Amino acid sequence: MWSRSTKIWGENAKEFYPERWIDEEGGLRREAASKWTAFHAGPRVCLGQNLATLEALVCVAMLLKRYTFKLVPGQDVTYDFSLTLPMRDGMKVYVERR
Ligand code: HEM
Repeated sequence: MWSRSTKIWGENAKEFYPERWIDEEGGLRREAASKWTAFHAGPRVCLGQNLATLEALVCVAMLLKRYTFKLVPGQDVTYDFSLTLPMRDGMKVYVERR
């Protein structure tokens, strides 16, 4: 699968490593749609891509404004095989009000 390809994403392609999306200046690293295929690419690219991304950003920003999240250590955060690739065992976090 494209999004787990070590040829495209490097040796740690299969690891949960969200920092890969942050560039040297702390900004968002943007990748070509042909590399990152959640919304596919080309003439049939998802028409709701920008709306869906904006909704996710607003949701995350509102949560981060009110709470801190710390990953519970010792978990294997990975995906399950299904059409929507959900997390296999979820991702447990400690949540504290700011
Ligand atoms: C996380 C959310 C979403 C994901 C991961 C997603 C993903 C996709 C994917 C993979 C396709 C297929 C592209 C292809 O045929 O190659 C698609 C098509 C499409 N999506 Fe989304 N989508 C999301 C949200 C939305 C939203 C919110 C809307 C509308 C408000 C939307 C509207 C569409 C439409 C209209 C198409 C058909 C485009 C076409 O065939 O020309 N999507 N989406």
